[in-house]
Amino acid sequence: MSSPNAESVPATAPAAPEWFRPSAEVLQHAWVKDYDKVYKRSLEDPEGFWSDIAKELEWYKPWDKVHEWNYPFAKWFVGAKANIVHNALDRHLKTWRRNKLALIWEGESGESRTFSYYELSREVNRFASVLRSMGVKKGDRVTIYLPRIPELPIAMLACAKIGAPHSVVYGGFSVEALRDRILDAESKVLITADGGYMNGKVIKLKEIADEAVQKAPCVEIEIVVRRTGQPVPMEAGRDLWYHDLMSLPIASPRCETEQTDAEDPLFMLYTSGTTGKPKGILHTHGGYMVGTYITLKWIFDLKDTDTWWCAADPGWITGHSYIVYGPLLNGATSFIYEGAPTFPYPNRWWSMIERYGISVLYTAPTAIRGLMRFGEAWPGKHDLSSLRLLGSVGEPINPEAWRWYHRVIGRGRCPIMDTWWQTETGMIMITPLPCVALKPGSATRPFPGVEADVVDEKGNPVPANTDGFLVLKRPWPAMMRTIYKDPERYTQLYWNKVPGVYTTGDSARRDADGYIWVIGRMDDVIKVSGYRLGTAEVESALITHPAVAESAVIGKPHEVKGHAIKAFVVLRPGHAASDALVEELRAHVAHHLGPIAKPEEIAFLPALPKTRSGKIMRRLLKARELGQAEGDTSTLEE
Ligand code: WT7
Repeated sequence: MSSPNAESVPATAPAAPEWFRPSAEVLQHAWVKDYDKVYKRSLEDPEGFWSDIAKELEWYKPWDKVHEWNYPFAKWFVGAKANIVHNALDRHLKTWRRNKLALIWEGESGESRTFSYYELSREVNRFASVLRSMGVKKGDRVTIYLPRIPELPIAMLACAKIGAPHSVVYGGFSVEALRDRILDAESKVLITADGGYMNGKVIKLKEIADEAVQKAPCVEIEIVVRRTGQPVPMEAGRDLWYHDLMSLPIASPRCETEQTDAEDPLFMLYTSGTTGKPKGILHTHGGYMVGTYITLKWIFDLKDTDTWWCAADPGWITGHSYIVYGPLLNGATSFIYEGAPTFPYPNRWWSMIERYGISVLYTAPTAIRGLMRFGEAWPGKHDLSSLRLLGSVGEPINPEAWRWYHRVIGRGRCPIMDTWWQTETGMIMITPLPCVALKPGSATRPFPGVEADVVDEKGNPVPANTDGFLVLKRPWPAMMRTIYKDPERYTQLYWNKVPGVYTTGDSARRDADGYIWVIGRMDDVIKVSGYRLGTAEVESALITHPAVAESAVIGKPHEVKGHAIKAFVVLRPGHAASDALVEELRAHVAHHLGPIAKPEEIAFLPALPKTRSGKIMRRLLKARELGQAEGDTSTLEE
């Protein structure tokens, strides 16, 4: 099967020779001790399975029906009323967890802030009251553009509390990406900060936000969190300081939680696809709550004694589900670190694991590969004995990185949960549980209740060890409900490619033991350092530069990043290729789309290869770049 981005680098092993079986200690601790039994039951009686889990949480009103399926539109816990914040915060205040730490935060420069469940819910209530008194109502979309500081989860939870769907835009995105997302959501309120810290440098978020808002006139109010203290322009009548608002009587710590419907929107999160226009992936209160709650609990075997660290950014789905909602739903202690893994030295992560006694670390292969480069001495200096479980997410983990993570960080004791999922799935879908035997590089088996398969174009399962489309064959509670304002595209993109099933966009193979090996994206999506970017987005940013006539972008295998962006550019007449222009174009993309989208390499071409119907053949560019066979070029224009 030919696909533009299908190979992962270093290549995923087809079948690893070694098995890693759970130790007696791990098994004894585990919530689920027999995967096969639980999995079997979940598929035979999905309604019973999911409703038993849902009953572990509190509902204002129970459901009339567990599940309704109007292909491809699903509803879960139909007729029920529940607010995720009631379960993430309110309900814990009635228990001993009231005084347990909900969040521990460490800033890049070393300062730390902690919030008990009581303190966090008080902050959330106060900010929710502020938003309400400013006129934000149930259903209003609020855009959040903040660095990795406690005010980010506080703002998310405050919105959810009053039933206002949040749209978090990752702080590493820039003007155009932010503007497009604000416009699509039609947000009247934008929450941002004077700046953020990354790698010892200040990221000027307010400057970017202001530029975006100039082109997004729907924004009436900008709420600005003071993080760096550097002077920023405040526009009278539009911009308000968060701390000023929080010192007013309107910031009441008493704030009633909106009794939302299970199917009311909780948030949208924009993600990249095959076109330049980002898709607003919509998730709801009820199903998402059940899915994130149980996946975190079972996969990472979460207990009240844990200090959980998901090292992602809250601005991505991983952070939504497993820094903010999942941990709080479980009454866990969630650790958040603001900055770069190597700041000021490459032992920063290991030092924090030791100092905070982190027991479960969940991160991405790109971070592991990045830290691996600095050698074993850095982690070797630290006591990592608090760790009992490790996790990986975002891209395939190559067996070398897996083994290093297992041996050097987990000291050979900690199983690695390689979790496959997507912004669209809301929750982890293919993953081991601690009781499942592991093979390095394989995400192993579907989570209970999830039916995954590897099929051909017609939907027929392919034989073992053969590449195919990774598909999901039945709905699950945390699935996206639609693309915001675009149900047609939702149907077309996800449910119309292979008959009757959800197409993930990934290729995979299944080995003789039934273990799934995810290979990579089959569409024009590139995973750069675990971040998801569309080739079209980068191309659109490039052609806004006056020197660029046309461009084509591919993902090129990269040792640490997994894939790096390579752009091919055709210049307009009167412009000449030069190293200076390469740098200018890279900076241009960083300014428009964000530093994460900056091309690693730019090459100038006299023309791009196109089909006779005018489509750019990125596949061909990629094959040439990698010195691979060019495949079918019969449609290539002269
Ligand atoms: C894509 C989704 C939701 C997690 C963060 C990424 C790739 C994700 C794995 C894994 C192999 C993985 C897939 C998927 N991916 N996890 N464990 N093994 N590939 O969410 O940004 O929506 O990206 O990430 O290609 O389709 P996302």
